[in-house]
Amino acid sequence: MPNSGSVHSDALVIFGVTGDLVHKKVFPALYSMAKRGVLKVPVIGVASSKLSLAQLCERATVSIKEFGGIDDPKALQHFLSRLSYVSGNYNDPGTFEALKNALGDAKRPAHYLAIPPSLFETMIKGLGFSGLADQARVIVEKPFGRDLASARELNRIARSVFPENSIFRIDHYLGKEAIMNILYFRFANSFLEPIWNRNYVASVQITLSEKFGVEGRGAFYETAGCLRDVIQNHLFQIVALLAMEPPAYRGYGAVHGKTADVFHAMRPLKPEDMVRGQYADYRNEPGVDQNSDVETYCALRLFIDSWRWEGVPWYLRSGKYLAETACEVIVQLKPPPQRLFADSTPTDGPANYLRFRLSPSSALALATRVKRPGKEFVGDQRELFLSDERPGEETPYERLLGDAMAGNGALFIRQDAVEAAWAVVEPVLNKHPPVFPYPHHGWGPVQADALIADDGCWHNPKPGHALKNTVDSKTR
Ligand code: BG6
Repeated sequence: MPNSGSVHSDALVIFGVTGDLVHKKVFPALYSMAKRGVLKVPVIGVASSKLSLAQLCERATVSIKEFGGIDDPKALQHFLSRLSYVSGNYNDPGTFEALKNALGDAKRPAHYLAIPPSLFETMIKGLGFSGLADQARVIVEKPFGRDLASARELNRIARSVFPENSIFRIDHYLGKEAIMNILYFRFANSFLEPIWNRNYVASVQITLSEKFGVEGRGAFYETAGCLRDVIQNHLFQIVALLAMEPPAYRGYGAVHGKTADVFHAMRPLKPEDMVRGQYADYRNEPGVDQNSDVETYCALRLFIDSWRWEGVPWYLRSGKYLAETACEVIVQLKPPPQRLFADSTPTDGPANYLRFRLSPSSALALATRVKRPGKEFVGDQRELFLSDERPGEETPYERLLGDAMAGNGALFIRQDAVEAAWAVVEPVLNKHPPVFPYPHHGWGPVQADALIADDGCWHNPKPGHALKNTVDSKTR
């Protein structure tokens, strides 16, 4: 089977070019690439809608205006002049023929499947039959399957047409600057390693909260739910970066191997490890079943049965229509062995912690106790706070599409990791507690508090990332 090696792709084909993902993320990313002068290949959109090229260009312009803005009309023109459109049904071999014509002299296209997962098989097979897979790459969007068996089947189909190093599985969280920094922070600093284990870490919690609902994606969400939509992938990838052993050598193969090891060491979930919630009125969303039991909120307690993490609980939660849009990690350290000062009781505030603010802003904070001025030995928990935002950073889609076209697989997911992650959630995909309703703009169902009660409480991300003295969480 031909191998695309590390030669740059000479065209980008976007299947599902009229879809939501392309509208919100991909057009703006291609425009940014044009601004940087790195968009050098033709871009061919494919979808079933009967649109003229002028109409597609109009849609692209609207999307870029809405999701980022247009500050470089020349770059916009550069991008639009590279865009072409093939309209057709994915089941029709004629569509692939038309695509072949549109590709012209391009011999090594990157095919980006920005389409519903139910179409992956048809598309991959179509590319194979039509000869469009030769020397090509395929970029696949999550979800990679909807359980272990379907993930394996999807992989079998993909591998029957493309070699593994030509398959690029996107989890856009891996392309976020703040998430890439977790890997750097962990292994570029020497102070961390001695405490980064079960001896010093009491628990870890990760929150991905969103202020909005399913936003017109009700029909998709009904097939997914929060666990499949963001926890088994985005949050698990964050866990892997925080929990992995040091890669044995420089090279992304080593990082991929260590990521997969974390998933293999995760204890398969049990129904009592999870709390599921559903926001008020979810059942009235278009495309949603009147009796839906699909969760729009999910909280988990999980364990990594490894030498480093044995016994340390990892609490993960995510939900729609919560109080803030943010993603944050708190690594809670154990208290000092002795209480020398009267103020350092557990009720006076948590012990030291590390806080990674991953979005919307990016920041890192280390909470330490500092003595208040005066005769008494009393103090406060204060954050040493680092924020390193750089305007104009590459967005995840810009970075990931560029990497995939260049054949750089560092920020993509290997199939063994996908399967190992599915194996962890598999036991609770169908066997789980019912959903608890929760109101809009709070912090989800109160029942989630009991899940974490043995180890404290949830730390609710606050707006912005201003310095604060303590973390608290009691406010719902
Ligand atoms: C997507 C999910 O993968 O990630 C969405 O399908 C979710 O439901 C989104 O809102 C969150 O991504 P981000 O980058 O906006 O935090």
